[in-house]
Amino acid sequence: MKAVVQRRYGSAVLGELDVPVPGQGEVLLEVRAAGVDMGVWHLLTGKPYLLRFLGFGFRGPKSPVPGRDVAGVVTALGTGVTEFAVGDEVFGTCEGSFAECAVAPVSRLARKPEGVSFTEAAAVPISGGTALQGLRGVQPGQRVLVTGAGGGVGSYGVQIAKALGAHVTGVCSTRKVELVRSLGADEVFDYTVADFTGTYDLILDCGGGRSLSRLRKAATERGRIVLVGAETGGSITGGFHKALGSVALNPFSSKKFVPLMSTERADVFDELRVLIEAGSVKPAVERTFSLSEALDAIEHVYSRRSRGKVVVTI
Ligand SMILES: NC(=O)c1ccc[n+]([C@@H]2O[C@H](COP(=O)([O-])OP(=O)(O)OC[C@H]3O[C@@H](n4cnc5c(N)ncnc54)[C@H](OP(=O)(O)O)[C@@H]3O)[C@@H](O)[C@H]2O)c1
Repeated sequence: MKAVVQRRYGSAVLGELDVPVPGQGEVLLEVRAAGVDMGVWHLLTGKPYLLRFLGFGFRGPKSPVPGRDVAGVVTALGTGVTEFAVGDEVFGTCEGSFAECAVAPVSRLARKPEGVSFTEAAAVPISGGTALQGLRGVQPGQRVLVTGAGGGVGSYGVQIAKALGAHVTGVCSTRKVELVRSLGADEVFDYTVADFTGTYDLILDCGGGRSLSRLRKAATERGRIVLVGAETGGSITGGFHKALGSVALNPFSSKKFVPLMSTERADVFDELRVLIEAGSVKPAVERTFSLSEALDAIEHVYSRRSRGKVVVTI
């Protein structure tokens, strides 16, 4: 099969690999589309270095193929699989979705939502799942602020917060304002013109550019500040620096920082499927790339030019 092959951190090429064999609790997928997110860039480069201590491979990547988000068709079952049958259309995450075939654990797969393409479905799992987990507990009528609202996680954050009945404010740069409005945000701040104002019951911080004190000032007295990620912390700890610092501040205030470490699980993807089938969430796919252009797709996301989601189609 054709695949993007990555033997060491920092370089990858299009090559040929054997089709993988599904093991216990796994299925083989014919990959139709693979979503791209900031995490793919981190696993391609091995940065921040802290990642290497978290089980993704110390000297080189554990998976020889990059890409985690996946949508495709089940073509073979490993032992013990009863959840899916050959021919089922699914979406979720796996190790190595930038390939014609990939093996995925059923614990990280759900049935593809009705009425969306494989391309749209592949744009959902990590970004949508992260937004969903970050917004847990939001009540109707609460005020939610989403920074980085025009990015992958943020584009789902705006839509899911609206679906939960919140009043949603998005923050983004000029070229993403129209997208964020179209996703249903009640208010949009273009931070290149003026930074956001007001106080919020929950802040979903996907943009990462603001200090902890700035975020805390914008939270209501018992507000929560969910730290999703940041690309500002340097090559050793990266976005983790902010999360680590925030924990030390929590005992001194009723406003709480919540560093988020999202999990990739079938039940989360199933929740997203329900929201998509109900019409409450629509994947905002800006652009697709072919498998041979996968590295350009990653660079496009890393450069912050992407609006919403980017997908590699196979
Ligand atoms: N905690 C978790 O479990 C988890 C899960 C997924 C992702 N993440 C992390 O969450 C962050 C957002 O992920 P994403 O997939 O939504 O990324 P994305 O698609 O690149 O969106 C991030 C948005 O943040 C804004 N931004 C502001 N300052 C930035 C900077 N210095 N570098 C990059 N973007 C900046 C950009 O919008 P403007 O151009 O409008 O400023 C961009 O659209 C990333 O750091 C990612 O690694 C964490």
